Amino acid sequence: MNNPAVWQFSLGAVHAAMWGGSLLVALVFFSRFVTLRALSVATLAATLALVMLGAYVRLTNAGLGCPDWPGCYGKLSPTHAAEQIEAAQTASPNGPVSLPKAWREMIHRYFASFVGVMILAIAIQALTNRRERSGNSDDPGRAIGLPLALVLVVVLQGLFGKWTVTLLLKPVIVTLHLLGGMALVALLAWFSARHLQLTGGQPSGLRGIRPIAAIGLITLAAQIALGGWVSTNYAALACVDFPTCHGAWKPATDFAHGFHFFRELGMTAEGELL
Ligand code: HEM
Repeated sequence: MNNPAVWQFSLGAVHAAMWGGSLLVALVFFSRFVTLRALSVATLAATLALVMLGAYVRLTNAGLGCPDWPGCYGKLSPTHAAEQIEAAQTASPNGPVSLPKAWREMIHRYFASFVGVMILAIAIQALTNRRERSGNSDDPGRAIGLPLALVLVVVLQGLFGKWTVTLLLKPVIVTLHLLGGMALVALLAWFSARHLQLTGGQPSGLRGIRPIAAIGLITLAAQIALGGWVSTNYAALACVDFPTCHGAWKPATDFAHGFHFFRELGMTAEGELL
């Protein structure tokens, strides 16, 4: 299989206009006709669903169902690219490309685009609120730090999604893509809680647990990163017993190789990509 260039952009002009036009209509709708409260909760729910959809794409080996970006073989949908998909499948019947896999991958991308638009609408509404309430600098409705952080993370997440495909599921990229999805969900939960006023009026006793909560959060993030690293390197069956590993509490390990961050994805015994 070819390794497409990292910055490659392939999508026909008509298809790009159709995709871009639908996103623009959605952006106007979300930024003008939905309240910020409703939008924040809807975006949180949509992002949670998107994270699960991403896991489904990965676990059904559909990540390279469309090997280019942002379209599928430069087309808007797998139906438009049916000829190329069939040719790829004929050339490699057990390869990563098939029509159902291409659909799974593309639905994940369409959905991600809408989540991106919803987050952009949150930022537009937050900036408008800030301008309208310019008199009172203590007003929490004027805060724009979180909405801007959301825009930054979703743009990065889109780029990691692209590199997940164009760099052929490089473990470090897929792990960062997983962490980006988790970070988005966490930031959106924080933003929604603020707008539903769930964070206001905390009993002062809760302040004392902040350090423990912070340690818990960092530990959880590290554990998710380690889980992602095991999964993206297909290392889950390296130890087939539990709680020991091959009957030993301290099995032989190769840390330097196990945590080689810029490694390509490994090969199967038959010489195919894992
Ligand atoms: C808001 C945007 C996005 C979010 C929250 C998101 C989230 C996720 C998550 C959580 C996974 C599962 C990762 C894992 O299990 O390790 C995933 C997988 C995947 N995502 Fe995304 N994603 C987003 C955007 C994109 C975009 C724009 C693309 C492509 C252009 C993309 C391509 C992929 C692919 C190919 C996989 C499967 C990787 C594999 O098979 O190993 N994602 N996504």
